[in-house]
Amino acid sequence: MRTQVAIIGSGPSGLLLGQLLTNAGIDNVILERQTRDYVLGRIRAGVLEEGTTHMLDEAGAGERMRRQGLPHEGFDLTFNGRRHNIHLHELTGKRVMVYGQTEVTRDLMDKRLSTGGVTVYEAAHVEPHDFDGANPYVTYEKDGVTHRLDCDFIAGCDGFHGASRKAVEGKGLEIFERVYPFGWLGIVADVPPVHHELIYANHPRGFALCSMRSPTRSRYYVQCTLEDKVEEWSDDRFWDELRRRLPPETAETMTTGPSIEKSIAPLRSFVAEPMRFGRLFLVGDAAHIVPPTGAKGLNLAASDVRYLFDGLREHYAEKSDAGIDVYSQKALSRVWKAERFSAWMTSTMHRFDDTGPFGQRIQEAELDYLVHSQAASASLAENYVGLPY
Ligand code: APR
Ligand code: PHB
Repeated sequence: MRTQVAIIGSGPSGLLLGQLLTNAGIDNVILERQTRDYVLGRIRAGVLEEGTTHMLDEAGAGERMRRQGLPHEGFDLTFNGRRHNIHLHELTGKRVMVYGQTEVTRDLMDKRLSTGGVTVYEAAHVEPHDFDGANPYVTYEKDGVTHRLDCDFIAGCDGFHGASRKAVEGKGLEIFERVYPFGWLGIVADVPPVHHELIYANHPRGFALCSMRSPTRSRYYVQCTLEDKVEEWSDDRFWDELRRRLPPETAETMTTGPSIEKSIAPLRSFVAEPMRFGRLFLVGDAAHIVPPTGAKGLNLAASDVRYLFDGLREHYAEKSDAGIDVYSQKALSRVWKAERFSAWMTSTMHRFDDTGPFGQRIQEAELDYLVHSQAASASLAENYVGLPY
Protein backbone atom coordinates (compact mmCIF):
# COMPACT_ATOMS: atom_id res chain seq x y z
CA MET A 1 0.00 0.00 0.00
CA ARG A 2 1.15 3.55 -0.69
CA THR A 3 0.00 6.91 0.66
CA GLN A 4 1.39 10.42 0.93
CA VAL A 5 1.26 10.81 4.72
CA ALA A 6 1.23 7.79 7.06
CA ILE A 7 -0.30 8.82 10.38
CA ILE A 8 0.34 6.67 13.44
CA GLY A 9 -2.40 7.05 16.05
CA SER A 10 -6.07 7.96 15.87
CA GLY A 11 -6.30 10.34 18.83
CA PRO A 12 -7.15 14.03 18.35
CA SER A 13 -3.73 14.80 16.77
CA GLY A 14 -3.88 12.07 14.13
CA LEU A 15 -7.55 12.61 13.32
CA LEU A 16 -7.29 16.40 13.04
CA LEU A 17 -4.17 16.22 10.87
CA GLY A 18 -5.74 13.49 8.74
CA GLN A 19 -8.92 15.50 8.15
CA LEU A 20 -7.10 18.70 7.18
CA LEU A 21 -4.94 16.69 4.77
CA THR A 22 -7.96 14.88 3.29
CA ASN A 23 -9.77 18.21 2.81
CA ALA A 24 -6.68 19.56 1.00
CA GLY A 25 -6.59 16.51 -1.30
CA ILE A 26 -3.49 15.00 0.36
CA ASP A 27 -3.80 11.23 0.70
CA ASN A 28 -3.28 9.77 4.18
CA VAL A 29 -3.78 6.53 6.11
CA ILE A 30 -4.16 6.27 9.89
CA LEU A 31 -2.77 3.22 11.71
CA GLU A 32 -4.31 2.78 15.16
CA ARG A 33 -3.34 0.11 17.68
CA GLN A 34 -6.73 -0.03 19.41
CA THR A 35 -10.35 -0.43 18.27
CA ARG A 36 -12.55 2.59 17.58
CA ASP A 37 -14.63 1.86 20.69
CA TYR A 38 -11.55 1.64 22.89
CA VAL A 39 -10.33 5.04 21.67
CA LEU A 40 -13.79 6.51 22.29
CA GLY A 41 -13.90 4.98 25.78
CA ARG A 42 -11.06 7.15 27.04
CA ILE A 43 -12.20 10.12 29.12
CA ARG A 44 -9.89 13.09 29.07
CA ALA A 45 -9.91 16.86 29.48
CA GLY A 46 -12.48 19.22 28.06
CA VAL A 47 -11.44 22.84 27.58
CA LEU A 48 -10.82 24.07 24.02
CA GLU A 49 -8.99 27.28 23.16
CA GLU A 50 -10.50 29.40 20.37
CA GLY A 51 -7.64 28.36 18.08
CA THR A 52 -8.60 24.71 18.60
CA THR A 53 -12.29 25.39 17.89
CA HIS A 54 -11.34 27.19 14.67
CA MET A 55 -9.28 24.20 13.57
CA LEU A 56 -12.21 21.86 14.19
CA ASP A 57 -14.36 24.17 12.05
CA GLU A 58 -11.68 24.19 9.35
CA ALA A 59 -11.62 20.38 9.43
CA GLY A 60 -15.41 20.42 8.93
CA ALA A 61 -15.90 18.72 12.30
CA GLY A 62 -17.02 21.67 14.43
CA GLU A 63 -20.78 21.60 13.91
CA ARG A 64 -21.82 19.60 17.02
CA MET A 65 -19.25 21.43 19.18
CA ARG A 66 -20.80 24.77 18.12
CA ARG A 67 -24.27 23.39 19.01
CA GLN A 68 -23.58 21.47 22.22
CA GLY A 69 -20.31 22.95 23.54
CA LEU A 70 -20.47 25.37 26.46
CA PRO A 71 -18.73 28.69 25.76
CA HIS A 72 -17.19 30.03 28.98
CA GLU A 73 -16.41 33.68 29.66
CA GLY A 74 -14.16 32.94 32.62
CA PHE A 75 -13.35 30.59 35.48
CA ASP A 76 -13.23 30.82 39.29
CA LEU A 77 -10.35 30.42 41.70
CA THR A 78 -11.01 29.57 45.34
CA PHE A 79 -8.56 29.87 48.22
CA ASN A 80 -8.74 30.93 51.86
CA GLY A 81 -12.47 30.11 51.90
CA ARG A 82 -13.40 32.58 49.15
CA ARG A 83 -14.26 32.42 45.45
CA HIS A 84 -12.92 34.88 42.85
CA ASN A 85 -13.71 35.15 39.16
CA ILE A 86 -11.14 35.49 36.40
CA HIS A 87 -13.11 37.07 33.57
CA LEU A 88 -11.29 35.75 30.52
CA HIS A 89 -13.41 37.62 28.03
CA GLU A 90 -13.05 41.02 29.69
CA LEU A 91 -9.32 40.47 30.13
CA THR A 92 -8.51 39.08 26.67
CA GLY A 93 -11.55 39.44 24.41
CA LYS A 94 -11.56 35.63 24.12
CA ARG A 95 -13.57 32.72 25.51
CA VAL A 96 -12.89 29.02 25.93
CA MET A 97 -15.22 26.19 24.93
CA VAL A 98 -16.01 23.37 27.34
CA TYR A 99 -16.49 20.26 25.15
CA GLY A 100 -15.07 16.85 26.03
CA GLN A 101 -12.11 15.42 24.17
CA THR A 102 -14.09 12.20 23.70
CA GLU A 103 -16.68 14.19 21.72
CA VAL A 104 -13.97 15.92 19.68
CA THR A 105 -12.58 12.48 18.81
CA ARG A 106 -16.03 11.13 17.90
CA ASP A 107 -16.79 14.12 15.63
CA LEU A 108 -13.44 13.76 13.85
CA MET A 109 -13.94 10.00 13.43
CA ASP A 110 -17.43 10.54 11.96
CA LYS A 111 -16.08 13.18 9.58
CA ARG A 112 -13.28 10.87 8.48
CA LEU A 113 -15.77 8.10 7.81
CA SER A 114 -18.02 10.39 5.75
CA THR A 115 -15.13 11.69 3.64
CA GLY A 116 -13.72 8.23 2.91
CA GLY A 117 -10.52 8.50 4.97
CA VAL A 118 -8.82 5.16 5.63
CA THR A 119 -8.14 4.08 9.21
CA VAL A 120 -6.66 0.68 10.03
CA TYR A 121 -7.75 -0.20 13.56
CA GLU A 122 -6.06 -2.92 15.63
CA ALA A 123 -2.80 -2.42 13.75
CA ALA A 124 -0.18 -4.22 15.86
CA HIS A 125 3.61 -3.77 15.98
CA VAL A 126 3.48 -0.49 14.06
CA GLU A 127 7.03 0.57 13.22
CA PRO A 128 8.36 3.53 11.20
CA HIS A 129 11.37 2.84 8.91
CA ASP A 130 13.90 4.75 6.79
CA PHE A 131 12.62 8.22 7.71
CA ASP A 132 16.21 9.51 7.49
CA GLY A 133 16.06 8.94 3.72
CA ALA A 134 13.69 9.88 0.89
CA ASN A 135 11.57 6.69 0.98
CA PRO A 136 10.16 6.09 4.43
CA TYR A 137 7.65 3.33 5.18
CA VAL A 138 5.72 1.91 8.08
CA THR A 139 5.22 -1.77 8.84
CA TYR A 140 2.37 -3.20 10.91
CA GLU A 141 0.57 -6.42 11.59
CA LYS A 142 -3.15 -6.87 11.05
CA ASP A 143 -4.92 -10.19 11.68
CA GLY A 144 -1.56 -11.94 11.85
CA VAL A 145 -0.40 -10.62 8.45
CA THR A 146 2.50 -8.14 8.11
CA HIS A 147 1.82 -5.12 5.88
CA ARG A 148 4.02 -2.36 4.51
CA LEU A 149 2.77 1.20 3.99
CA ASP A 150 5.08 3.31 1.77
CA CYS A 151 4.77 7.07 2.11
CA ASP A 152 6.39 10.50 1.72
CA PHE A 153 6.09 11.44 5.40
CA ILE A 154 5.27 9.81 8.74
CA ALA A 155 3.30 11.72 11.39
CA GLY A 156 3.86 10.22 14.85
CA CYS A 157 0.53 11.03 16.53
CA ASP A 158 0.63 7.97 18.78
CA GLY A 159 0.64 9.56 22.21
CA PHE A 160 3.01 9.25 25.14
CA HIS A 161 3.40 5.44 24.92
CA GLY A 162 3.58 5.21 21.13
CA ALA A 163 6.09 3.71 18.70
CA SER A 164 7.21 6.95 17.02
CA ARG A 165 9.23 8.47 19.84
CA LYS A 166 10.76 5.05 20.57
CA ALA A 167 11.94 4.92 16.94
CA VAL A 168 14.01 8.10 17.37
CA GLU A 169 15.66 7.23 20.68
CA GLY A 170 19.44 7.49 20.29
CA LYS A 171 19.06 9.73 17.23
CA GLY A 172 19.67 13.00 19.07
CA LEU A 173 16.40 12.92 21.01
CA GLU A 174 16.58 14.95 24.23
CA ILE A 175 14.06 14.53 27.05
CA PHE A 176 13.04 17.16 29.63
CA GLU A 177 10.82 15.90 32.42
CA ARG A 178 9.27 16.64 35.81
CA VAL A 179 7.15 14.05 37.58
CA TYR A 180 4.88 15.46 40.31
CA PRO A 181 4.51 13.76 43.70
CA PHE A 182 0.71 13.46 43.40
CA GLY A 183 -2.12 12.56 41.03
CA TRP A 184 -5.71 13.56 40.22
CA LEU A 185 -8.61 11.37 41.22
CA GLY A 186 -11.41 12.21 38.79
CA ILE A 187 -15.07 11.26 38.53
CA VAL A 188 -17.91 11.83 36.10
CA ALA A 189 -21.45 11.99 37.50
CA ASP A 190 -24.83 12.78 36.00
CA VAL A 191 -25.54 15.68 38.32
CA PRO A 192 -25.77 19.38 37.41
CA PRO A 193 -22.44 21.25 37.80
CA VAL A 194 -22.09 23.06 41.12
CA HIS A 195 -21.40 26.35 39.32
CA HIS A 196 -21.72 27.70 35.77
CA GLU A 197 -17.97 28.39 35.66
CA LEU A 198 -15.11 25.93 36.27
CA ILE A 199 -13.71 26.21 39.81
CA TYR A 200 -9.99 25.67 40.49
CA ALA A 201 -9.59 25.26 44.25
CA ASN A 202 -6.47 25.72 46.37
CA HIS A 203 -6.92 24.23 49.84
CA PRO A 204 -4.60 23.04 52.65
CA ARG A 205 -6.03 19.50 52.08
CA GLY A 206 -5.07 19.66 48.40
CA PHE A 207 -6.24 20.90 45.02
CA ALA A 208 -9.75 20.33 43.65
CA LEU A 209 -11.38 21.12 40.30
CA CYS A 210 -15.06 21.42 39.44
CA SER A 211 -15.62 21.00 35.72
CA MET A 212 -18.46 19.78 33.55
CA ARG A 213 -19.44 18.09 30.31
CA SER A 214 -22.99 19.42 29.95
CA PRO A 215 -25.70 21.13 32.05
CA THR A 216 -26.50 17.70 33.52
CA ARG A 217 -23.07 16.03 33.66
CA SER A 218 -20.25 17.07 36.01
CA ARG A 219 -16.54 16.28 35.97
CA TYR A 220 -14.80 16.68 39.34
CA TYR A 221 -11.25 16.06 40.51
CA VAL A 222 -9.35 16.02 43.81
CA GLN A 223 -5.58 15.89 44.27
CA CYS A 224 -4.59 12.48 45.66
CA THR A 225 -1.35 10.70 46.55
CA LEU A 226 0.48 8.40 44.15
CA GLU A 227 -0.27 5.52 46.56
CA ASP A 228 -4.06 6.09 46.48
CA LYS A 229 -6.13 3.32 44.86
CA VAL A 230 -9.44 3.97 43.12
CA GLU A 231 -11.03 1.06 45.03
CA GLU A 232 -10.32 2.89 48.29
CA TRP A 233 -12.37 5.87 47.15
CA SER A 234 -16.09 5.24 47.54
CA ASP A 235 -18.36 7.87 45.98
CA ASP A 236 -19.22 9.14 49.46
CA ARG A 237 -15.57 9.55 50.38
CA PHE A 238 -14.96 11.44 47.13
CA TRP A 239 -17.88 13.84 47.60
CA ASP A 240 -16.91 14.50 51.23
CA GLU A 241 -13.33 15.28 50.28
CA LEU A 242 -14.35 17.50 47.35
CA ARG A 243 -16.75 19.51 49.51
CA ARG A 244 -14.14 20.01 52.23
CA ARG A 245 -11.82 21.64 49.70
CA LEU A 246 -14.42 24.20 48.52
CA PRO A 247 -15.72 27.33 50.27
CA PRO A 248 -18.74 26.35 52.45
CA GLU A 249 -21.31 28.29 50.40
CA THR A 250 -20.16 26.46 47.25
CA ALA A 251 -20.01 23.04 48.94
CA GLU A 252 -23.53 23.48 50.33
CA THR A 253 -25.07 23.87 46.87
CA MET A 254 -23.36 20.84 45.36
CA THR A 255 -25.56 18.05 44.04
CA THR A 256 -24.00 14.61 44.50
CA GLY A 257 -24.87 11.28 42.92
CA PRO A 258 -23.37 7.97 41.77
CA SER A 259 -20.20 8.24 39.71
CA ILE A 260 -20.25 6.75 36.20
CA GLU A 261 -16.47 6.88 35.87
CA LYS A 262 -13.67 7.08 38.41
CA SER A 263 -9.94 6.99 37.76
CA ILE A 264 -6.56 8.26 38.97
CA ALA A 265 -4.04 9.97 36.68
CA PRO A 266 -0.47 10.88 37.65
CA LEU A 267 0.79 14.37 36.73
CA ARG A 268 3.81 14.92 34.54
CA SER A 269 5.56 17.65 32.54
CA PHE A 270 7.50 16.19 29.60
CA VAL A 271 9.06 17.52 26.38
CA ALA A 272 10.99 15.61 23.70
CA GLU A 273 13.22 17.64 21.39
CA PRO A 274 13.42 17.99 18.46
CA MET A 275 10.01 17.17 17.01
CA ARG A 276 11.29 16.32 13.53
CA PHE A 277 13.62 13.52 12.46
CA GLY A 278 14.00 13.62 8.67
CA ARG A 279 10.61 12.60 7.30
CA LEU A 280 9.17 11.65 10.70
CA PHE A 281 7.36 14.25 12.81
CA LEU A 282 6.34 13.89 16.45
CA VAL A 283 2.94 15.46 17.12
CA GLY A 284 0.89 16.02 20.32
CA ASP A 285 1.35 13.72 23.31
CA ALA A 286 4.05 11.76 21.44
CA ALA A 287 6.29 14.80 21.93
CA HIS A 288 5.01 16.47 25.08
CA ILE A 289 2.85 16.04 28.17
CA VAL A 290 1.54 18.79 30.42
CA PRO A 291 -0.11 18.38 33.82
CA PRO A 292 -3.86 18.97 33.26
CA THR A 293 -4.05 22.02 35.55
CA GLY A 294 -3.82 24.51 32.67
CA ALA A 295 -6.06 22.45 30.31
CA LYS A 296 -3.42 22.62 27.59
CA GLY A 297 -2.87 18.98 26.41
CA LEU A 298 -5.38 18.81 23.58
CA ASN A 299 -4.79 22.45 22.64
CA LEU A 300 -1.07 21.84 22.17
CA ALA A 301 -1.87 18.87 19.96
CA ALA A 302 -3.98 21.23 17.83
CA SER A 303 -1.24 23.85 17.49
CA ASP A 304 1.30 21.18 16.49
CA VAL A 305 -1.14 20.04 13.80
CA ARG A 306 -1.55 23.66 12.64
CA TYR A 307 2.20 24.02 12.00
CA LEU A 308 2.64 20.55 10.50
CA PHE A 309 -0.40 20.77 8.22
CA ASP A 310 0.68 24.19 6.92
CA GLY A 311 4.15 22.76 6.22
CA LEU A 312 2.82 19.68 4.41
CA ARG A 313 0.35 21.71 2.35
CA GLU A 314 3.18 24.02 1.29
CA HIS A 315 5.27 20.99 0.36
CA TYR A 316 2.61 19.55 -1.94
CA ALA A 317 0.99 22.75 -3.26
CA GLU A 318 3.99 25.04 -3.57
CA LYS A 319 6.88 22.57 -3.66
CA SER A 320 8.47 24.43 -0.73
CA ASP A 321 9.85 22.76 2.40
CA ALA A 322 10.11 26.05 4.31
CA GLY A 323 7.17 25.18 6.59
CA ILE A 324 8.35 21.64 7.26
CA ASP A 325 11.82 22.93 8.07
CA VAL A 326 10.55 25.24 10.82
CA TYR A 327 7.97 22.77 12.24
CA SER A 328 9.99 21.64 15.23
CA GLN A 329 11.20 25.11 16.16
CA LYS A 330 7.75 26.73 15.86
CA ALA A 331 5.94 23.94 17.69
CA LEU A 332 8.48 23.80 20.54
CA SER A 333 8.39 27.54 21.05
CA ARG A 334 4.64 27.35 21.77
CA VAL A 335 4.93 24.04 23.64
CA TRP A 336 7.46 25.43 26.12
CA LYS A 337 5.28 28.44 26.92
CA ALA A 338 2.36 26.11 27.66
CA GLU A 339 4.69 23.86 29.69
CA ARG A 340 5.74 26.90 31.72
CA PHE A 341 2.13 27.94 32.31
CA SER A 342 0.97 24.42 33.21
CA ALA A 343 3.88 23.84 35.61
CA TRP A 344 3.30 27.24 37.23
CA MET A 345 -0.45 26.69 37.64
CA THR A 346 0.23 23.21 39.04
CA SER A 347 2.72 24.49 41.60
CA THR A 348 0.45 27.39 42.61
CA MET A 349 -2.69 25.27 43.10
CA HIS A 350 -1.47 21.98 44.64
CA ARG A 351 -0.36 20.92 48.09
CA PHE A 352 3.31 19.93 48.19
CA ASP A 353 4.29 17.96 51.31
CA ASP A 354 7.77 19.45 51.48
CA THR A 355 6.77 23.14 51.58
CA GLY A 356 4.52 22.95 54.67
CA PRO A 357 2.43 25.84 56.07
CA PHE A 358 4.97 28.35 54.69
CA GLY A 359 4.32 27.08 51.17
CA GLN A 360 0.56 27.31 51.73
CA ARG A 361 0.83 30.99 52.80
CA ILE A 362 3.04 31.80 49.80
CA GLN A 363 0.47 30.21 47.47
CA GLU A 364 -2.37 32.17 49.09
CA ALA A 365 -0.37 35.41 48.74
CA GLU A 366 0.30 34.64 45.08
CA LEU A 367 -3.37 33.86 44.43
CA ASP A 368 -4.47 37.00 46.28
CA TYR A 369 -2.10 39.03 44.11
CA LEU A 370 -3.32 37.23 41.03
CA VAL A 371 -7.01 38.03 41.53
CA HIS A 372 -6.46 41.64 42.65
CA SER A 373 -3.83 42.78 40.18
CA GLN A 374 -5.12 43.59 36.70
CA ALA A 375 -1.69 42.83 35.23
CA ALA A 376 -1.43 39.43 36.93
CA SER A 377 -5.03 38.46 36.07
CA ALA A 378 -4.45 39.47 32.46
CA SER A 379 -1.32 37.35 32.25
CA LEU A 380 -3.15 34.32 33.67
CA ALA A 381 -6.08 34.87 31.31
CA GLU A 382 -3.86 35.37 28.25
CA ASN A 383 -2.19 32.01 28.85
CA TYR A 384 -5.41 30.19 29.74
CA VAL A 385 -7.26 31.22 26.57
CA GLY A 386 -4.18 30.20 24.56
CA LEU A 387 -1.20 32.10 23.18
CA PRO A 388 -1.34 32.96 19.47
CA TYR A 389 -0.12 30.37 16.95
N1 APR B 1 0.62 2.07 17.08
C1 APR B 1 -0.55 2.65 16.67
N2 APR B 1 -1.27 3.50 17.43
C2 APR B 1 -0.82 3.76 18.66
C3 APR B 1 0.39 3.21 19.15
C4 APR B 1 1.11 2.33 18.30
N3 APR B 1 2.26 1.77 18.70
N4 APR B 1 0.60 3.66 20.40
C5 APR B 1 -0.44 4.46 20.68
N5 APR B 1 -1.30 4.53 19.64
C6 APR B 1 -2.55 5.28 19.57
C7 APR B 1 -3.33 5.29 20.85
O1 APR B 1 -4.14 4.12 20.98
C8 APR B 1 -4.16 6.56 20.70
O2 APR B 1 -5.41 6.31 20.07
O3 APR B 1 -2.25 6.65 19.33
C9 APR B 1 -3.32 7.46 19.82
C10 APR B 1 -2.73 8.63 20.57
O4 APR B 1 -3.77 9.47 21.02
P1 APR B 1 -3.63 10.41 22.31
O5 APR B 1 -2.93 9.68 23.39
O6 APR B 1 -4.99 10.94 22.58
O7 APR B 1 -2.64 11.58 21.85
P2 APR B 1 -2.91 12.84 20.91
O8 APR B 1 -3.74 12.49 19.73
O9 APR B 1 -1.58 13.48 20.70
O10 APR B 1 -3.85 13.76 21.79
C11 APR B 1 -3.41 14.82 22.56
O11 APR B 1 -4.48 15.93 24.44
O12 APR B 1 -5.87 16.21 26.27
C12 APR B 1 -4.64 15.74 25.84
O13 APR B 1 -3.37 13.93 26.66
C13 APR B 1 -4.57 14.30 26.07
O14 APR B 1 -4.60 12.53 24.52
C14 APR B 1 -4.70 13.83 24.64
C15 APR B 1 -3.82 14.79 23.99
C1 PHB C 1 -11.95 18.64 32.53
O1 PHB C 1 -13.08 19.09 32.33
O2 PHB C 1 -11.74 17.42 32.48
C2 PHB C 1 -10.82 19.56 32.82
C3 PHB C 1 -11.04 20.93 32.81
C4 PHB C 1 -10.02 21.79 33.09
C5 PHB C 1 -8.75 21.30 33.38
C6 PHB C 1 -8.51 19.93 33.37
C7 PHB C 1 -9.56 19.05 33.09
O3 PHB C 1 -7.74 22.16 33.67
